[in-house]
Amino acid sequence: MAWTVPADWLDTVLALAQRSQQALQAALHSVGLLTDVHGQPAWPWAQRLAAEVLAQEPQLARQATALLACMLGLGVLALLALRWRWARWALAPALLLVATAAPWSALALLQAPAVPTSWHRSPTGFTVQSITQGAHIYQQQCVRCHGADGKGEGPDAARLPMWPPTLNGSLLWKRLEGELFWRVRHGMHSAAGVQTMPAFANLTDEQVWQVLDYLQAYAAGQLLRDTGAWAQPVRMPQARLHCRNTGATSVRQLQGQRLRVVLGGSVDALPPDDPRLVTLWVPAQAVAGGAAELADPADQAECVVQDPQALPVLAWVLGQAANDGKGPQGSQMLVDRNGWLRARSSPGQGDWSEDDLVCRASAPSNATTTRLAASASPDADGLEALIRRMDAEPVRPRRGGFPH
Ligand code: HEC
Repeated sequence: MAWTVPADWLDTVLALAQRSQQALQAALHSVGLLTDVHGQPAWPWAQRLAAEVLAQEPQLARQATALLACMLGLGVLALLALRWRWARWALAPALLLVATAAPWSALALLQAPAVPTSWHRSPTGFTVQSITQGAHIYQQQCVRCHGADGKGEGPDAARLPMWPPTLNGSLLWKRLEGELFWRVRHGMHSAAGVQTMPAFANLTDEQVWQVLDYLQAYAAGQLLRDTGAWAQPVRMPQARLHCRNTGATSVRQLQGQRLRVVLGGSVDALPPDDPRLVTLWVPAQAVAGGAAELADPADQAECVVQDPQALPVLAWVLGQAANDGKGPQGSQMLVDRNGWLRARSSPGQGDWSEDDLVCRASAPSNATTTRLAASASPDADGLEALIRRMDAEPVRPRRGGFPH
C-alpha cells in the first residue's frame, strides 16, 4: 500500500517551515541586518521554501520527507561519529547511499522565487471599512483590465500582452499575501521581461492592502456562488458593534464565541435569542442618530452592527448582488469561535441543518463520528448538529500553501 502523508503531519511540517523562515527574518532584523520595506522587515533572499507544491502533490511531499529524513539521519550519524568509532565507519557508506538514492530532484521544487515582502502580513484586519475602501480603489484602478466582475475581461484587457487571470477562483489563496502585495505595488513581468501588469506606485501601502481585502471578500462570494462552498475559510469581516449586554464594540472582542449574523430584514423578523450563539444584526440602513438609537429597536439582537457599509460587504462575501436594492436581506451566517464564517442560510429557509455548513475541514476524518454523536441525542435539533460539527472540525486557511 502506498504510504501517504497524513494531513496533520504535513500541516506541522509546513507550519515549521514557515515559522523558521519568519524567525530567521526576525532574528536578522533584530540585530540590524535587515532593513524595513513597506513597513515590515524585508526578506533578503530571492528564494524561499515553497509550500504550494508540497501541499498539492503528495508524491513530492513524500520525496521531500524522504530527503529531509535522509539529511536528518546523516546529521545524527555525523554527531554519533564524533564519539563512536562504528559511526565513523558507517558515515562514508551512508553518505554514498544518500548521495545516490535520495530524491535530490525534490530539492529544486522546494524553492520558490521570493520578493522582499514575501512574509509581510496585511495590517488592515479585514474590516468592513478596508474592504469598502478597497472596492473604491478597484473601481478606479483595476476595473479597466480585470473587469467589474473580476473575471479579467475589462475594456482594456484585449489590448494587453496577456489576458488578466480571473481573480474569482482560488488564485488569491494560492499566493502569500505579501507576494500579492508586491505584485500590485511593483507590477508584473513575463519571463521575457515584458511588463504584463503595471506597477501602482501612486497607491499607498495601505491602499494596496485594502484593495487586496476587497478582492478576497469578492472572490470568496464568487467561489461560494459557483461551487456552493468555501474551500478556503473566510474570516468574518471586522465591524463596529453596539452590544446590549456585553458592551462589546467590535467583532474582534467576541472572538471565542459563536456568532449568528442576521442580514437586513426587520427587527420583528429577528430569530429568538439562543444561548449557544451571540446574535449580530446587520440593519439594512443605518438609522440617523447613531448608535444609541439604532440599538433601541433591536432589543432582540444582542449586538447591532454599526458600519453602514456592512451589508454590501457581506453581500460580496456571500456572492449576492448588493446593488439591486435588496441585497442579502434575510440571509444568516454562522461564525465559529475562531472567527471563520462556516455556515449560511437563505431567507425563509427554516431550520438549520448540517448541510448549511459551507466551510468544512479539509480532512473531515471525524465527521462521521460527530454526525453519529449529534444524531444519537434524540433532542438534537439541526442547529445543534451543525454546531457540534463546526466545533469538532476546526478549519485553518492556507495562503501560498502555508497554514495562515
Ligand atoms: C493594464 C491592465 C491591468 C491593470 C490596470 C491591473 N491589472 Fe492586475 N493583472 C493584469 C494582468 C495582465 C495580470 C496577469 C499578469 C501575469 O500573470 O504576468 C494581472 C494579474 C493580477 C493579479 C494576480 C497576481 C498573481 O499572483 O498571479 C492580481 C492579484 C492583480 N492583477 C490585481 C490587480 C489590482 C488590485 C489592480 C488595481 C490596483 C490591478 N491588478 C490592475 C493587468 C492589469
